[in-house]
Amino acid sequence: MSKIFTVFGATGQQGGALINFILQHETFSKEFRLRGVTRDASKAEAVKLKERGVQLIEADMNDPPSLRPAVDGAYAVFAMTNYWDKASAEAEITQGKAIADASRAAGVSLIIWSSLPNVTQMSNGELTTVHHFDSKAEVEDYIRSLNFPSSVFYLPGWFMQNVWHGFVPKPKMISVDTVLFPFAWPPDLRLPLIDVSDTGKYLAPALRDPAKYDGARLVSATAHYSAQEIVDTWSRASGKNMRLATGNEAEQFITHPMQREVLRPGPLFVKYGYFGPSGPQDLDWTISQLEPADTLTTWEDFLVQNGPWDFE
Ligand SMILES: NC(=O)c1ccc[n+]([C@@H]2O[C@H](COP(=O)([O-])OP(=O)(O)OC[C@H]3O[C@@H](n4cnc5c(N)ncnc54)[C@H](OP(=O)(O)O)[C@@H]3O)[C@@H](O)[C@H]2O)c1
Repeated sequence: MSKIFTVFGATGQQGGALINFILQHETFSKEFRLRGVTRDASKAEAVKLKERGVQLIEADMNDPPSLRPAVDGAYAVFAMTNYWDKASAEAEITQGKAIADASRAAGVSLIIWSSLPNVTQMSNGELTTVHHFDSKAEVEDYIRSLNFPSSVFYLPGWFMQNVWHGFVPKPKMISVDTVLFPFAWPPDLRLPLIDVSDTGKYLAPALRDPAKYDGARLVSATAHYSAQEIVDTWSRASGKNMRLATGNEAEQFITHPMQREVLRPGPLFVKYGYFGPSGPQDLDWTISQLEPADTLTTWEDFLVQNGPWDFE
């Protein structure tokens, strides 16, 4: 009999991508029965999931008792939180722990938590304000303390989808053929880019063999791309001349204090790296575990697949 797999964030990018991957997978589509969590089962994305055979459960991460029906009887849970919903580390930690507690109480065998590195620890206390990383890491520690039969930690890189989704500013036409990439990144700064649609590919090894990956951190991205490569590739894909912003230019795009860390950019990216100093090796390891057929989407593939690119 197939096993229930509860996916939080089913109507969003990460959860939605995992659901797509499982529904299209020859083995996993038979092995797992998907249950998607949303606060509103009547919204368009939820209705589409239902039409594709996903069971929908209404639950709110801010309301712990509502989580129990979402995880009852589940074999596996994909747990994520949306920091930007409340832009509060405390709220994200409370939500993540509530999912973990409900899952443990329900006897879930495998929990996958969408995590990020603890920047305060990684920087030996130098960087204490990257709250949306530290909060996820705190939930990761909590999940480890609960001793699930298997717990796996998915650490996604910078989403390629940030070019249209989320709070980061978008490129802007500044002359007839020149586009400003609004980030004042040094040309040789390297960022791990992930196509979120690939989420399931990174998780497949752990779904096949949860015991082998118990406790593992899956640092996930297609590759580390330099800032210069990012704009050069986008120039080729758009037929326009895209360039990196200067510090003063980037400053004009900052509408929220959290954007400064990314746009200017702060020491997390420059000194430590998005995943920390061991990021490149950790990513090599994750990629070495993937199924050979699960090829990852390159930045160029992503831009070509999602073009044509018009900028305002
Ligand atoms: N952008 C990046 O480069 C990047 C990189 C690494 C990590 N992240 C992290 O990724 C997270 C966002 O993930 P995403 O882009 O996949 O999300 P998303 O597409 O914005 O969707 C958010 C999902 O969370 C659900 N949700 C939000 N609040 C909820 C609540 N109170 N109860 C139940 N469900 C709730 C929403 O469900 P309903 O609305 O249907 O209820 C929706 O499915 C953030 O925490 C961010 O820090 C982002």
